[in-house]
Amino acid sequence: MYKEDFPFFENTNSVYLDNAATTQKPKVVVDKVVDYYTHFCANTHRSNFGDANKATKEFENTRELLKQFINAKESKEIIFTKGVTESLNMIASTFAKKFKTIIISSLEHHSNITPWHMQGRRLHDGLEVVNTKDNLEFDFEHFEELLKANPNSFVSITHVSNAFGTKHDIKRIVTLAHKYDSYIMVDAAQSLAHFEVDVQDLNVDFYAMSAHKTYGPTGVGAIYIKEELLKDVSTYQTGGATINDVSFERSIMLDSPYRYEAGTQNIAGVVGFGQALTYIKDIGIKNIFEIEEELYKYLYNELEKIPGIIFYNNSSNTIGSRSFNIENINCEDIGILLDKMHIAVRAGHHCAQPIMKKLNIDGTIRASIGFYNTKDDIDKFIVGLKKAITMLKD
Ligand code: ALA
Repeated sequence: MYKEDFPFFENTNSVYLDNAATTQKPKVVVDKVVDYYTHFCANTHRSNFGDANKATKEFENTRELLKQFINAKESKEIIFTKGVTESLNMIASTFAKKFKTIIISSLEHHSNITPWHMQGRRLHDGLEVVNTKDNLEFDFEHFEELLKANPNSFVSITHVSNAFGTKHDIKRIVTLAHKYDSYIMVDAAQSLAHFEVDVQDLNVDFYAMSAHKTYGPTGVGAIYIKEELLKDVSTYQTGGATINDVSFERSIMLDSPYRYEAGTQNIAGVVGFGQALTYIKDIGIKNIFEIEEELYKYLYNELEKIPGIIFYNNSSNTIGSRSFNIENINCEDIGILLDKMHIAVRAGHHCAQPIMKKLNIDGTIRASIGFYNTKDDIDKFIVGLKKAITMLKD
């Protein structure tokens, strides 16, 4: 029934199970973006006429909504960016740069690997990777060994793996990181839309978010920076709206969040993001979690019955995505055949090549759910998958 809220589904009969790549946008979000461009298109934090003031108010309202959504303490802890990738790059090239060692997990997306390589860090030379145990479980013993050997490091870890859906116990990871005087950034690309997040309770130092995986527009997101660390995060880019006073001799920057938001922002995107957060809040994130849990269990049970299926992690701590292969069949071939049957999934390495290499596979088929999916979608996917397997086996 929630599909009715999403114009995309009015125009297609496709089964959409690629929510980990991006979610569809509810009409209220699309309307809000159009509303900005149609009725109050003006720049923010600059001019002082009616529409400009409205644009600024709506823009700042999203900051407030996001603050509440993740239970941040202060609005200034929320800085808008282009999304998780920019948020990770921002902190990598500012606060985290000074640390001798960066610790990441084996399940990171390329956007939490390449920024460290760009700094010239290599494995065991400024970059350490926590092992995974069987079933892709985070190896806490190895993590503690790394922290013991490298206290005062910077830890950067995904909340939920985009490739496999494995959920990390972030609270336990944060507690250990802090015990060894280390700081921690979390990639929230695959968590924000799926379950309740409380950054104060998790006690994370940095939390990187994308709107487009949370029913909001593309090209916008945010980084949460714990208040007491703001003074230690230098500006990433500077320019219009970041400064208090400029002369040819010097620039005096504004306080957070403005000092980090250089140039005209993606105003329509931010305003649309606010609407997406309101939409989620109205449905209830706990409700969304329960709907998805049920769908996820159904998906898992149906997949499990397929002969030759290979899973790489167990289902108990997995959220949103199910990643698998079928014995002796190339995952991308299955993806192509499913597309011909109008079933959208992602097949390939999911921008997580290191873990694929470790598992000695080229990639997987990943079906990822959103709360608007139905059991009927899953049934169609399973029928399509079986058909594709039969065609490729013959
Ligand atoms: N990071 C996105 C995915 O996992 C694009 O598909």
